[in-house]
Amino acid sequence: MVSAHASRLATLRHASSTRVDATLAALFDARPAVDERLEAAMRHGLLVGGKRLRPLLVYLAGQALGASDDDLDAPAAAIELIHAYSLIHDDLPAMDDDDLRRGQPTVHKAFDEATAILAGDALQALAFEVLASHPYPRLGQLVTTLAVASGRDGMVAGQALDLAAVGGHPDAEAMAHMHAHKTGALIVAAVRLGGLVAVEEDDPRLAALIRYARAIGLAFQIHDDILDVTGDTATLGKISGADAARAKPTYPSLLGLAEAQCKANTLIDEAIAALAPLGEQAAPLADLAHYMIERDH
Ligand code: IPE
Ligand code: IPE
Ligand code: MG
Ligand code: MG
Ligand code: MG
Repeated sequence: MVSAHASRLATLRHASSTRVDATLAALFDARPAVDERLEAAMRHGLLVGGKRLRPLLVYLAGQALGASDDDLDAPAAAIELIHAYSLIHDDLPAMDDDDLRRGQPTVHKAFDEATAILAGDALQALAFEVLASHPYPRLGQLVTTLAVASGRDGMVAGQALDLAAVGGHPDAEAMAHMHAHKTGALIVAAVRLGGLVAVEEDDPRLAALIRYARAIGLAFQIHDDILDVTGDTATLGKISGADAARAKPTYPSLLGLAEAQCKANTLIDEAIAALAPLGEQAAPLADLAHYMIERDH
């Protein structure tokens, strides 16, 4: 059954996906491909499937603070480019060794490992190109936000923590630290990018949005871990049960399914409470918070 949150959000999700998909497709049309195989691998990892939740966060956060959609297109595309690169590398044999992603063969399966590594590298570079090609008043802060969230202080550090934790038993604090980096960092960055298009760094509404994003970021990865246990491969578009098969410590493995679910629910309540300073403007972000842990894939 579709919840009221999900149905209210459906139109906004569709509009946001359509916009970001057009921006992403245009990047490939802007210049002819130098290497057709690399180009095909990049398109495969980026353009087919995916929920486009990080671009949606950019649009909703920016709109809540008064930014125009036109000004939000570049950061929305940039965050999805980084995310797609992270997934291509996450699936590599040296990392999670997954064969299915977004309902199709992973990039290293459809092409080969070297091409998958290079496609990820090129998508990452393209993210910074698209963001830096626009004359935003706070361009330096936008670029820094994306860089910090992607690299040694963000997603890549989280992926390193994730690999180091395989077979181990991190406590709840260590797990939250790992999730905050591998998944939370890009979710916080999405909201920060959207916010910084509209307002100055020290605007208290931006701080509220970041508190919201930290909470939904952790809840999102907890729900991803839960779906790995409870979901089926066809619905997920990725192989279910992969975390247990690979001895990945997750919230369900640490707390059990019911308590993990409880933790995610509490985080969503915290996220919605954090939106209070934004008033009615933030209603779609509240719906998205619910959707983050109601989604079936
Ligand atoms: C999957 O992210 C990777 C995680 C950080 C858990 P999504 O669930 O947003 O993946 P797509 O973009 O919809 O494929
Ligand atoms: C992925 O976490 C995090 C990043 C890609 C940075 P997972 O490894 O749990 O994501 P899935 O389950 O493969 O999508
Ligand atoms: Mg992983
Ligand atoms: Mg994975
Ligand atoms: Mg997962």
